[in-house]
Amino acid sequence: MSLKKIAVAIDGPAGAGKSSISKVVANQLDYLYIDTGAMYRAVTWAVLHEHIDVHNQQAVEQLLPSLNLSMEPTETACKVFIGGENITDFIRQPKINDNVSIIASYKAVRQYLVERQRAMAAVGGVILDGRDIGSVVLPKAELKIYLTASVETRAKRRWLEVQGTPNELPLEDIIASVTERDEMDKNRKESPLVQVPDAVLVDSSDMTFDETVAHILSLVEARTNYE
Ligand code: DC
Repeated sequence: MSLKKIAVAIDGPAGAGKSSISKVVANQLDYLYIDTGAMYRAVTWAVLHEHIDVHNQQAVEQLLPSLNLSMEPTETACKVFIGGENITDFIRQPKINDNVSIIASYKAVRQYLVERQRAMAAVGGVILDGRDIGSVVLPKAELKIYLTASVETRAKRRWLEVQGTPNELPLEDIIASVTERDEMDKNRKESPLVQVPDAVLVDSSDMTFDETVAHILSLVEARTNYE
C-alpha cells in the first residue's frame, strides 16, 4: 500500500510566498517542485542577454526555437539553464522583475513554456507554482490552491528578503512594482491570473510561514488517499 502521489497547482499573485512555501511542502512530501515563474524569468533573461527589445514580440518569438531552456527540478530547488548555463542566480534581479510580465503576456512564449511544464509534471507527485497552473497548465490537478496575501504584506516580505542584498529597494518602490505586476498578470489577454472555482483560497496575510506550510500540507493530505 502506498500513498497516492498527486499534482498540486499553486497559483497566486507576486510575492505571496508561493515558491518558498512550495519548496518546503514538496520537500516534506518528496514531490518535485517546478517553479514556472522561473521559466518566464529565464526567457526574459535570454531576451535581455540578446539585447532584444522586450516590446518586439516578433523578435522574442523568433528567439524561442534556439532558446535551449532546461530545468532541473528537485524537492528543494528548481534550477534553470539557458544553453547549458545555470542562470538560476540571475533571474531575480530588478531588471528581470520589471520586464517579465511583458514577456509572460506573449501567447507564443506561454505555449512554448506550458508544453514543457506539462511534460515535466507528467511524472506525478509534483507541485507547480505560477499564475495559470490550475486554469491552463494542469486543469485536472487533484489539488488547486490560490495562495494570496494583501499587497502590503507581500511587498513587506519581498522588502525583508532583499535587505542587505544588491537588489535592495525602498518599500514604496516594491509596493509599486508588486501592484504593477498584479495589474499586468490579472488583466493580460493570455491566461490571466484568476482564482479558478475549484481552487482552495489560502490568504496568508495573517499566517506565519510555518502555519501556511502546515495548512497546505493538510490540504494535500486530505486529497491523498491510500490505494
Ligand atoms: O512567480 P514569479 O514572480 O517568479 O513570476 C514571474 C512572472 O512570470 C510574473 O510576472 C507572472 C509570470 N508568470 C506567468 O505568467 N505564469 C506562470 N505560470 C508563472 C509566472
